[in-house]
Amino acid sequence: MKRTKTSKNWMHEHVDDFYVNEAQRLGYRSRAAFKLLQANEKYKFLKQGSRIVDLGSAPGSWSEVLSKLIGERSRIIAVDILAMQNIKNVEFIQGDFREEAVLLKLERKLENEQLDLVISDMAPNISGIKVKDQLEIIYLNELALDFSLKWLKPNGHFLVKSFVGTDFEKFLGQVKRSYKKVTTFKPKASRDRSSEIFIYARDLLAN
Ligand SMILES: C[S@@+](CC[C@H](N)C(=O)[O-])C[C@H]1O[C@@H](n2cnc3c(N)ncnc32)[C@H](O)[C@@H]1O
Repeated sequence: MKRTKTSKNWMHEHVDDFYVNEAQRLGYRSRAAFKLLQANEKYKFLKQGSRIVDLGSAPGSWSEVLSKLIGERSRIIAVDILAMQNIKNVEFIQGDFREEAVLLKLERKLENEQLDLVISDMAPNISGIKVKDQLEIIYLNELALDFSLKWLKPNGHFLVKSFVGTDFEKFLGQVKRSYKKVTTFKPKASRDRSSEIFIYARDLLAN
């Protein structure tokens, strides 16, 4: 039977509901948890004893995944412009990552010790004006990339959420120049209709 647009929409909503229900069932704050879990299933970057920064962490489901899977022996620092309720084993900084003062606060916390992993799910509030939203996420992507280049250990890893659109390829090229292996990935938990895409970059190249 040919699938109509309506039945496709129904399917997508159904899949969305599935992840919303699963998040509730497993005690995660949002369905976004499954994007990190699926990325980790594919690339296996979450390791005990890691030092990790989670950018754009609120409401906190990625941090919850980190806390549950590797929290006991790892150091996890999360940053968001919005408030986030406490999560065991996670240190939180509330502030706008675009601001120098917030970056400095985060850097002071790192106490000159490098990181194993930087993950960024930062995204602007969607205005609906495509070009504006796109430029805003690319700017956040570039800030996250710069931060990863400064703070990751050699061979450290970087996971970043972006949107396919203007300047995405240019940004991907920037990532490829700095890491040994770079792949793009759309987790099943990501809505088909969204232009969201993840870049996973492994093994930071020495400068
Ligand atoms: C898709 S949500 C992140 C969801 C999160 N990974 C989770 O699993 O709960 C995107 C987040 O990026 C944050 N954000 C956007 N711009 C930011 C900025 N300039 N500095 C810090 N956080 C920012 C938003 O406040 C929002 O909470």
